[in-house]
Amino acid sequence: MIPAIQIKNLTVTYGSIKVIDDFSCEVKENSVTAIIGPSGCGKSTLLRSLCRMNDRIEDFHIAGQVLVKGENIYHPNVDVYELRRRVGMIFQKPCVFPKSIFENVLFGVKHRIDKKDYETLVERVLTKVNLWEEVKDRLKSLATTLSVGQQQRLAIARTLAVGSEILLMDEPTSSLDPKSAEAIESLIKSLKTHHTILLVTHQHEQAEKVSDNLIFCNIIR
Ligand SMILES: Nc1ncnc2c1ncn2[C@@H]1O[C@H](COP(=O)(O)OP(=O)(O)OP(=O)(O)O)[C@@H](O)[C@H]1O
Ligand SMILES: [Mg+2]
Repeated sequence: MIPAIQIKNLTVTYGSIKVIDDFSCEVKENSVTAIIGPSGCGKSTLLRSLCRMNDRIEDFHIAGQVLVKGENIYHPNVDVYELRRRVGMIFQKPCVFPKSIFENVLFGVKHRIDKKDYETLVERVLTKVNLWEEVKDRLKSLATTLSVGQQQRLAIARTLAVGSEILLMDEPTSSLDPKSAEAIESLIKSLKTHHTILLVTHQHEQAEKVSDNLIFCNIIR
């Protein structure tokens, strides 16, 4: 089977500073890979390189290849918006918009589905992230009124709504209390049935708890 992600001799520089040096690895579909390493070693740079979020940084330069399901994501014909739909990113600080919970879930998908399917989709993905029971009576409330832990689950629901196959999670629990962090950890374990997850974490215990594979990074300078 084709790996979900293949990284081949990846080298990343910002101007004259090399952050990733000739890194290669393969990530199997439906697995959780934890990425661990000291601050500044390039973990976020690596994740962002997998969905081309670094493209607009002026002196960013990349060499080598990144393949998603066998397809080179840096090929000039690649539709970057479609890539970002398939490869979703979850940040340390939950990314929610100043709109209702309902609208947040539908944010990236509204124009692509029938209005009659909105409610079913919202219930399906909010159930998947274990948030439905907590919010089903307040779907019209502002998403910013949710707790930070709930907001993080909402952000994950939004990536599921657009149909992301790969989820890149950059320290998704570091701004959460232990109970909310645990909720995200068990969610990660359940999501790998249908998704491939890369998880950057500073917590070795978390990496051991949820991951199938570990990548250790170090500062190269
Ligand atoms: N836009 C940028 N321009 C220049 N240098 C950058 C840029 N983004 C990151 N860097 C540098 O690249 C290196 C790696 O940064 P990155 O954010 O990937 O590290 P990290 O491993 O995620 O760190 P942390 O654990 O603190 O989040 C750092 O030295 C950082 O200063
Ligand atoms: Mg980082």
